[in-house]
Amino acid sequence: MKKECVLVAGGAGYIGSHTTVELIEAGFDVVIVDNLSNSEMRAVEGVRKITGVDVPFEQVDCCDIDAFRKVFEKYDFDSVIHFAASKAVGESVHEPMMYYRNNLTSFMNVIDLMREFGRHNVVFSSSCTVYGEPDKQPVTEQTPRKPATSPYGNTKQMSEDILRDSIAAYDGLNGIALRYFNPIGAHPTALIGELPRGVPQNLVPYITQTAAGIRECLSVFGDDYPTPDGSCIRDYIDVTDLAKAHVVAIRRMVEHKNKERYEVFNVGTGRGVSVLELVKGFERVNGLKLNYKIAPRREGDIIAIWADPTLANEKLGWHAERSLDETLASVWKWQQTL
Ligand code: NAD
Ligand code: WQD
Repeated sequence: MKKECVLVAGGAGYIGSHTTVELIEAGFDVVIVDNLSNSEMRAVEGVRKITGVDVPFEQVDCCDIDAFRKVFEKYDFDSVIHFAASKAVGESVHEPMMYYRNNLTSFMNVIDLMREFGRHNVVFSSSCTVYGEPDKQPVTEQTPRKPATSPYGNTKQMSEDILRDSIAAYDGLNGIALRYFNPIGAHPTALIGELPRGVPQNLVPYITQTAAGIRECLSVFGDDYPTPDGSCIRDYIDVTDLAKAHVVAIRRMVEHKNKERYEVFNVGTGRGVSVLELVKGFERVNGLKLNYKIAPRREGDIIAIWADPTLANEKLGWHAERSLDETLASVWKWQQTL
């Protein structure tokens, strides 16, 4: 029987590379498209090594519709996972047009080409950032979206709306938006993981680079928030667990089990963890002492957010499986390969 093929746009990136591995291990064929604007061929090589499959890779900018069209002409896939976006929140505030252009054009091109070629299923990488600072915890998919506080966040809200409206207008198009909470971790083989460029803005790569001596000291942004230990709370989801959510989302559409043609799911563990808990967990699991200090609050940070993943548990049959300890061990193992 012919295997289902999935186009993974942004597949050389952090979440895309892990998802490609899980798709292949679940029996799908994959084609990766990436312009390598925030990734390296090393990730594609890592995927090939882990899976033993010579995954096709096309270096194409999804904003270049003519080049992107050639990928649709060349490969016979019915499903697309769209990771290809710029993701640095702070940068988006300074370079809004770059974010609107890249994130929206690339996604609109995906939808246009899917229509042109009669392809059916798309998964979109959304984010818990669409909830802003929620009034109630944990957040469900019914929790109202708050006005975006950055152009990046706005591109996620707008892309969700573009997908919803396109599906309402065009027969044959199915879509699932996955709202990721805070993805962390690396593949257990340590052949792929997060490759931050420059000074990391996110907590976990900053922790691992501090442990490795690349950064001198981790600043914990605020210990005077109204939380049990005063530091912010997030829902840290292991990247392999997150990758598996894409596999079940694709399968749901391929097998026509999606009740609505457009669906949204939270992808988180359901557990809130504070910055200080995470730092201490990293120290304990890896037997290390981390140089950190309490620093002022970071502008724009929300105090606390964690997911209610019940909908994904029930409808997708997906659960976060990896323990935080395993994940924190994996990031240190990965850092030591860099
Ligand atoms: P990443 O930067 O590692 O991966 C994105 C990939 O897309 C990169 O390989 C980049 O080179 C590629 N890309 C960007 N623009 C492109 C374009 N126009 N054409 C072709 N390729 C392009 O980021 P990630 O952490 O793997 O995130 C993947 C997706 O998930 C993004 O859409 C991001 O916004 C979303 N997301 C990430 C997080 C997170 O914390 N990592 C949280 C929520 C949502
Ligand atoms: C986590 C916690 C910081 C760095 C961002 C995006 C969000 C989503 C995920 C894409 C916060 C604290 C951090 C440091 C620290 N991405 N921290 N010292 O801000 O929850 O979310 O990534 O959609 O849209 O905004 O993640 O990893 O930056 O921060 O104390 O050096 O760690 O204050 O409480 P965040 P993060």
